[in-house]
Amino acid sequence: MIHVSSLTKRYGALVAVDDVSFDVAPGELFVLLGPNGAGKTTTVEILEGLRKADDGTTIVLDAPAGSRAISSSVGVMPQESDLYAGIKTAEALRLFASFYDDPEDPDALMERFDLDRVRKTNYRRLSGGEKRRLSLAIAIVGRPKVVFLDEPTAGMDVEGRATTWSIVDELKQRGTTIMLTTHLLDEAERVADRVGILHRGKLVALGSPSQLTSGRSTELTFSGDADVDTEALGAAIGARVARAAKGVYRVANMPPTPRLVSDVTKWFASRDLLVRRLDVGPRSLEEFYLEVTR
Ligand SMILES: Nc1ncnc2c1ncn2[C@@H]1O[C@H](COP(=O)(O)OP(=O)(O)OP(=O)(O)O)[C@@H](O)[C@H]1O
Ligand SMILES: [Mg+2]
Repeated sequence: MIHVSSLTKRYGALVAVDDVSFDVAPGELFVLLGPNGAGKTTTVEILEGLRKADDGTTIVLDAPAGSRAISSSVGVMPQESDLYAGIKTAEALRLFASFYDDPEDPDALMERFDLDRVRKTNYRRLSGGEKRRLSLAIAIVGRPKVVFLDEPTAGMDVEGRATTWSIVDELKQRGTTIMLTTHLLDEAERVADRVGILHRGKLVALGSPSQLTSGRSTELTFSGDADVDTEALGAAIGARVARAAKGVYRVANMPPTPRLVSDVTKWFASRDLLVRRLDVGPRSLEEFYLEVTR
């Protein structure tokens, strides 16, 4: 549904997107990650037809990105958006719905996004999170085949985020192809079929969350009381024990073997202490992300 090959975008001397290639399959949920300024918005806005590439090929729905022929099949929630200050919530959503042949019911969408209460409020009076909710509602009102969501949950409260992820899930069930950016790595890991990580314009990783986090060296982490004697434990097991957070520890520079796990639990037992949680699982996406973007 989306094909990007050798995409490059320069702003003067800055190469904001540097020879980036990836594909997004029909019905796939593709998440683009990367630090501030990595080139996510630039990439997404080129695919939406809002910016022009300097080099490379960008195809969306079998047509060059931004062609008029596909515009009614593409939904967009920009990172920053603005509407006419005096338009009311309900008017805005009805207006956008009127651009499509078979739109969603604007009233149902307003209810879904908890925008009922502000249906008669002028756009400029909406709170930041309400504007984001309206922007997402506008992105999906035309039942698009492909949706681009640029940091959809930024600025939303807990409930807004939950609604957003459940809408994303519904779009996916319907077969919609979704490309989104976010800084929430745990949510990305949970929802993404595939992830791309941009770093200074370059695509430094591409794959499913499990591909990116498996096959890597894992380490033993465990939690216990806040005052575990890490020196004594380290001496007993022959490795350095570091404090990762309050009451959370990790054994540095030593892969978790059955022997190590047993040594750690034995040490706790010898002091009549409980290990609350012991984890030898694969790295989280966040750990992998920090590794490739540092
Ligand atoms: N129109 C422009 N003119 C000059 N530089 C630009 C322009 N648009 C973007 N840039 C620069 O290109 C780089 C990539 O910006 P982009 O907005 O794509 O990053 P991003 O990954 O979306 O970051 P964020 O997480 O902060 O949204 C940044 O260094 C930015 O300053
Ligand atoms: Mg951005």
